[in-house]
Amino acid sequence: MLKEKFDLTGKKAFVTGSARGIGRAIAAAFAEYGARVIVHGVKPSAPLEASLAEARSFNPACDAITGDLGDPAAVEAMFARLAEMDAMPDILVACASIQKNIHWSEFDAEEAHHEMEVNFHATLRMFQLAYPKMKEQGWGRLIVVGSVQEQRPHPEMCAYAATKSALENLVRNIARQVAREGITVNNLCPGAFATDRNAAALSNPVYREKVMNAIPMHDTGRPEDAAGAALLLASEAGRYITGTTIMVDGGLRLPG
Ligand SMILES: NC(=O)c1ccc[n+]([C@@H]2O[C@H](COP(=O)([O-])OP(=O)(O)OC[C@H]3O[C@@H](n4cnc5c(N)ncnc54)[C@H](OP(=O)(O)O)[C@@H]3O)[C@@H](O)[C@H]2O)c1
Repeated sequence: MLKEKFDLTGKKAFVTGSARGIGRAIAAAFAEYGARVIVHGVKPSAPLEASLAEARSFNPACDAITGDLGDPAAVEAMFARLAEMDAMPDILVACASIQKNIHWSEFDAEEAHHEMEVNFHATLRMFQLAYPKMKEQGWGRLIVVGSVQEQRPHPEMCAYAATKSALENLVRNIARQVAREGITVNNLCPGAFATDRNAAALSNPVYREKVMNAIPMHDTGRPEDAAGAALLLASEAGRYITGTTIMVDGGLRLPG
């Protein structure tokens, strides 16, 4: 039965950056399909509590942890905490990211390093920390949340776009190496989504119209639009999908 292949009962999932936006929708979907989900934000907050409450409405065993992915020690501490909670992930979604809008000619090295640390280095380290359990049990799902900017970079987000392209390369690299171990590695790429990070920009009607006109579907993504693709990649239904990118962008990447 195909329906059963989407079932995540018995799986443990860790979704970074799930205090809000796309991560929250992915976490809720995984919990709805039976997973014990650990939601995550930088620090304790009302949005994180709301995400946890939503996940727990589907599965009361869900929990929350916090930590700044820009701090390598915090990444280690989060995984130590996951082990203590008996929540080492079968499914890891690296969804948290940071971005700054600065023209490339003014981008300073410190900011570029910081974006690389949070978006790329922390993801690589989390993959390393999650891998041994996945290898031992012969089943695992490593998912990064990339961006349409891998294909259509924004003029003021050169560092952010580069971190996302680095993740896409990482996915293809690792996918090949772990493919015989029951572990898939994939990249889910949103287009322009109406989330907290874009709220201020999209509230400007002129900018909003410009964004809408660039999207063939003439509609911004809603967080739940990314949840179905994440569920496919995380579940047995996606068993044969690895080393690839799934665009969830209303056609934004298309030229013309
Ligand atoms: N929104 C879009 O249009 C769009 C387009 C393309 C790709 N994406 C990608 O999709 C993913 C989700 O985007 P979103 O718009 O849903 O994000 P969002 O609403 O801005 O939420 C970002 C999440 O990441 C967490 N986070 C931020 N900095 C962090 C850090 N240093 N350490 C740990 N966690 C951190 C935040 O934690 P707190 O809640 O605690 O602050 C929050 O939960 C990101 O990877 C983004 O690059 C988004």
